[in-house]
Amino acid sequence: MAAGLLLKVVGFCVWALFWLGGQSATVTPTAGEAFAGGEAVVVDARSAIAVTDEDFVCATLDWWPPDKCDYGTCSWGLATLLNMDLSNKILLNAVKAFSPLKLRLGGSLQDMLIYDTGDSQQPCTPFVKNTSAMFGFSQGCLPLHRWDELNAFFKESGGSSVQFSGVDDHLIDKILNPSYLDGMTSTFSNLQGILKSAGTSAVAWVGEAGGAYNSGHHLVTDAFVFSFWYLDQLGMSSKYDTKSYCRQTLVGGNYGLLNTTTFEPNPDYYSALLWHRLMGTKVLSTTFNGTNMIRAYAHCARNSDGITLLLINLSGTNTDQIYVTSEGAQTQGSRKEGRGFSHIPGLGKAAVFTREEYHLTPKDGKLQSQQVLLNGNVLATDANGEIPKLEPVQVEGTQPITVAPYSIVFAHIPSFYAPACR
Ligand SMILES: *[C@@H]1O[C@H](CO)[C@@H](O)[C@H](O)[C@H]1NC(C)=O
Ligand SMILES: *[C@@H]1O[C@H](CO)[C@@H](O)[C@H](O)[C@H]1NC(C)=O
Ligand SMILES: *[C@@H]1O[C@H](CO)[C@@H](O)[C@H](O)[C@H]1NC(C)=O
Ligand SMILES: *[C@@H]1O[C@H](CO)[C@@H](O)[C@H](O)[C@H]1NC(C)=O
Repeated sequence: MAAGLLLKVVGFCVWALFWLGGQSATVTPTAGEAFAGGEAVVVDARSAIAVTDEDFVCATLDWWPPDKCDYGTCSWGLATLLNMDLSNKILLNAVKAFSPLKLRLGGSLQDMLIYDTGDSQQPCTPFVKNTSAMFGFSQGCLPLHRWDELNAFFKESGGSSVQFSGVDDHLIDKILNPSYLDGMTSTFSNLQGILKSAGTSAVAWVGEAGGAYNSGHHLVTDAFVFSFWYLDQLGMSSKYDTKSYCRQTLVGGNYGLLNTTTFEPNPDYYSALLWHRLMGTKVLSTTFNGTNMIRAYAHCARNSDGITLLLINLSGTNTDQIYVTSEGAQTQGSRKEGRGFSHIPGLGKAAVFTREEYHLTPKDGKLQSQQVLLNGNVLATDANGEIPKLEPVQVEGTQPITVAPYSIVFAHIPSFYAPACR
């Protein structure tokens, strides 16, 4: 079975190893057992490999009119800049919760949009379907009053970081950056292959949903299963030094962070919010030498000590554990290991090592659920449209991290000695 986190100190270098056990379903840890050739997550916390912007998480809003349809489905409804209900409380709270969320306005129709200048020489007419036009619509006009309403909304939600985008400019950034693309494509195809071989019909759609020119697929790109792809994208792209990752979309289409009709957050919304609150800007090299079913990312913690780990388990059968103990913490394991690290600043003998864990699983175990559980409790807005608090469970530092099948865990480890994060 598994052992513990091992801090190897060479000079000022700190390597932390998170050990995975074998295929065991037991919950009781056996602290201090030997690291018998196990699999490990290795975090190099000596220096950051990349740094993201503070507002790395970003989402888009589009201009599509309600009669934008793909493959016979009209998935945009009244969920775009042209027409969405800006007085909806959930919408406002959802943006505010990021204090605020970076928004990118635009999409395919950005270049077809004209702004009402107020002079009545040209009538301000909406987008009209036109099959011979590039994106299926002829030029449309945004009335002045709508523009004012949008600005009022951005102001109220604290959304100072509103940006405009042309046609898929972030996609173009990706295409132009070979290292990014290499990394993305191989990861992506691995992930896709894994999801496919896992054998649910849902997951086969995931790959296609990443494409820029369709509107996603209901009960896939707006369901729990898509958080595997989305968080993996956030993890990968931050590793490749991407400053900001814009999710298409905040709301609208079938891949919104929010439900198109109710604005109730979809699972990816909570994934994004946890990332935003827990993952700092400094990215730490993180490797895992076991099964590719485990995806692991680590950043310096956001506005806090130590690091935050993101662990994604794409496998669906047993439950395994990642042991996290620290020699500096004077755990059983460390005493057995027989190394003294009391000289490491910040790792005092009496320090209490607890960490905060956030476990995300789908409701009723259904990957295609549009509801997500945080530590076993369903996440939903209350009657006032307030976004729920995202409460962690406190776990003693010597306990292993259990990553259930098909689940996602954020673990904030404040006591983790990470020179890169000072
Ligand atoms: C994983 O890495 C650790 C630490 O370097 C090593 O001890 C272990 O044997 C490796 N396991 C595998 C399966 O390669
Ligand atoms: C439709 O789009 C084509 C190509 O942009 C344009 O030439 C034509 O005038 C448009 N038709 C209408 C009715 O706007
Ligand atoms: C939005 O939520 C409603 C109510 O839960 C649900 O019936 C509908 O399928 C959701 N729409 C989308 C596009 O997810
Ligand atoms: C992930 O899930 C698989 C199968 O469900 C399990 O065997 C594995 O140990 C889990 N991994 C971790 C790190 O918990």
